[in-house]
Amino acid sequence: MLDVAKSLLAPSARSNVPAFMVMDVMAAAARIEAAGGRVIHMEVGQPAASPPSTAIAAARAALSGRLAYTETLGIPSLRARIARHYGDTYGVAVDPGRIVVTTGSSAGFILAFLALFEAGDRVAIASPGYPPYRHILSALGCEPVLIETTAATRWEITSEGLLAAHREKPLKGVLVASPANPTGTMIKPDVFAELIATAEGEGIRFISDEIYHGLDYAFRAETAARLSDRAVVINSFSKYFCMTGWRIGWMLVPEPLVRSVERLQQNFAISVPTLAQIAAEAAFDGCAEMEEIKHGYEENRRILIDGLPKAGLAEFLPVDGAFYLYADVARFSSDSLAFTKALLEEAHVAATPGVDFDPARGHHFVRFSYAGSPAEMREAVGRIGDWLSKAR
Ligand SMILES: Cc1ncc(COP(=O)(O)O)c(C=O)c1O
Repeated sequence: MLDVAKSLLAPSARSNVPAFMVMDVMAAAARIEAAGGRVIHMEVGQPAASPPSTAIAAARAALSGRLAYTETLGIPSLRARIARHYGDTYGVAVDPGRIVVTTGSSAGFILAFLALFEAGDRVAIASPGYPPYRHILSALGCEPVLIETTAATRWEITSEGLLAAHREKPLKGVLVASPANPTGTMIKPDVFAELIATAEGEGIRFISDEIYHGLDYAFRAETAARLSDRAVVINSFSKYFCMTGWRIGWMLVPEPLVRSVERLQQNFAISVPTLAQIAAEAAFDGCAEMEEIKHGYEENRRILIDGLPKAGLAEFLPVDGAFYLYADVARFSSDSLAFTKALLEEAHVAATPGVDFDPARGHHFVRFSYAGSPAEMREAVGRIGDWLSKAR
């Protein structure tokens, strides 16, 4: 009887995905702050700034009305506005009928994986990479195939790497992000084009996570929308538009798949929160404000690129885009979790251990987010320098 009762409470095996360690770092930082300490937050992958004022004004105005369900694929004027964004930003014409509004890009991954793959399918992703890719794939019964990237391939999945994994055992899909999290690196447009062509030539479906588009400093990010009508593009208002908590994003889906994605979303969510959709449409009118914020990230990036080597952290990946710097701390530690714990407790700088993003090699990497203010970045560099010189 006891065993039966126990079995009623047991979680399913597929729900057994690893926790996101950055959350533990945030909790430890909160404890220090509760005790009166002042922590510089470089662990969180979200902008410190507010959304465009146009988005907030539109949401305020909408609150006095009725917020009903919307069409499952999204408010038509928002879908049209997103399609226009592809013309304005990349010079590529996109049919609004291919746009699906989602509850953040996070929901886009679930919809894309379900619409594209069967249980058991192998899907390639980069390591280091954003942990939920592999955790969502596993929870859905797909097999994440980690392709280790290195400096030799500019921390990118290349056609060669993809083909090698495919020859070992056939792949059904590949997911690429540029700019990427946690590395902050970007794929050169010609390498990106070749990768998509190689994947599709082998029958491997291509998913492009473009959530950090707009936050590119080294060179202009290329959209998969320009390179293929068969690729699935996933994007979000979370990062460039500083709307993480609004939970709103979108997908650009090949036309023959739109109805499948629509049916899935009808059943999962009915529609995406209406208030967030209204705010998102107005956000496009606030791009000038967002460009100012982007200039702040550029300044932060310069402060870290110049300051961290002087502070003692001279090894890091190319700081191309997003708002991440991925530093190799092997000189100081082979336990990035212990390193970030000590950095937080002793210098009150919160950063994320690389093991979150790369189970094999992340023990000597640390991710710093530079989405805060330039003043905080300067102070962080000073604190890290003092701490490294004293503690090591
Ligand atoms: C690479 C990447 N993709 C997707 C997401 C998910 O973002 P959201 O669901 O807020 O759109 C994140 C969040 O940090 C991310 O870093």
